[in-house]
Amino acid sequence: MVYLDNNATTPLDPAVADKMANFMREHFGNPSSLYPIGRKAKEMINEARTYVAAAVGASKASIYFTGSGTEADNQAILGVMDALPDKKEFVTSTIEHPAVAETAAYLESKGFKVTYVPVDSTGTIDLDALRAAVSPQTGLVSVMHANNEIGTIQPIADVVRIAHEQGALVHTDAVQSFGKIAFRADDLGVDLLTISSHKIYGPKGVGALYVRKGTPLRPFVHGGHQERGLRAGTENTIGIVGFGEAARILPLHFEADKVRLRRLTDRLKTGLEAAVPKIHFNGHPKHRIPTTLSYAFLGLESEAILLSLATKGICVSTGSACSEESEEVSHVLQAIGLRPEFARSTVRMSLGRFNTEDDVTQVLQVLPEIVAKLRKISAWDPAEF
Ligand SMILES: Cc1ncc(COP(=O)(O)O)c(C=O)c1O
Repeated sequence: MVYLDNNATTPLDPAVADKMANFMREHFGNPSSLYPIGRKAKEMINEARTYVAAAVGASKASIYFTGSGTEADNQAILGVMDALPDKKEFVTSTIEHPAVAETAAYLESKGFKVTYVPVDSTGTIDLDALRAAVSPQTGLVSVMHANNEIGTIQPIADVVRIAHEQGALVHTDAVQSFGKIAFRADDLGVDLLTISSHKIYGPKGVGALYVRKGTPLRPFVHGGHQERGLRAGTENTIGIVGFGEAARILPLHFEADKVRLRRLTDRLKTGLEAAVPKIHFNGHPKHRIPTTLSYAFLGLESEAILLSLATKGICVSTGSACSEESEEVSHVLQAIGLRPEFARSTVRMSLGRFNTEDDVTQVLQVLPEIVAKLRKISAWDPAEF
């Protein structure tokens, strides 16, 4: 199998699997229990918190574990707006992950004023439109750090400056940037930041919210004192321990992965652009996650490409994993102004730690042929594009 869908999820690193297996066998205590096996579980959670905090460039006290990146996004947005009853405005972008976009829609349904700031054709937020959208009534601005579909990285320092000038807090969804580009949460200037374990070779079903000290925030899961009262519910100890291990080994891999994966992705990009006529690159040429490639294969339906690649054991995605089961054209591709027929022909390839030169060779052998074959049997007219 050639797995090129690392933005959807990453394989578990074997070191993480080992750590989780050992923990699972030996430690079943409830972290809230006061006898030794309970204390041990709590200790392991706090050790994981230390590793996650170090990897994201934050203090241990600012990290709260959640049940997913999605939950951390919900907690950040609903928790801040709930804590600031005098602020009835929320500002976000048009290219957010559904975890933010649908939470924004929920706020709208509850009577909040929500402004969706547009992006340009590279997927970069329009800072003038952001400036016009933020007012003293704005409680929170939520703009993602890097986009999951096209990889564009946002100018978060500018977003923070504009929001803070008006007294608004800032949340960023860093699920896709964490582990792929170097940053420190404390230095980004944001008040809240979301990360997720399964995008950094850790287990699924565990995420974390970074909360800068002093940020007003109310819990939205009620029923217990866990995570210092922010996230009720017995902790997913095994998941958290796995997340901690994935974060602990992240810096050990970071530089080597960065160099190697940039080389692999560049080779794939150059090879595809040379071998496949009429393809359109989506995203920012420079300010993007280097391991994400999004292309429109003009004249084709992306599902046909995806399924043909799957028969050869190659896994890619159409747009984002979350929109895989929906018939709708991706809102991100719409927001960057892509024609609907281009959007419907878009395939995303995203590389990760376990990809090899052989993987790229295989894709370069197979994909140009698939595209040529599909175009031959489809009614496409190259002159149209
Ligand atoms: C940008 C972004 N935000 C949030 C999420 C959701 O994270 P989780 O899968 O942990 O709920 C994802 C997952 O694809 C994502 O790409």
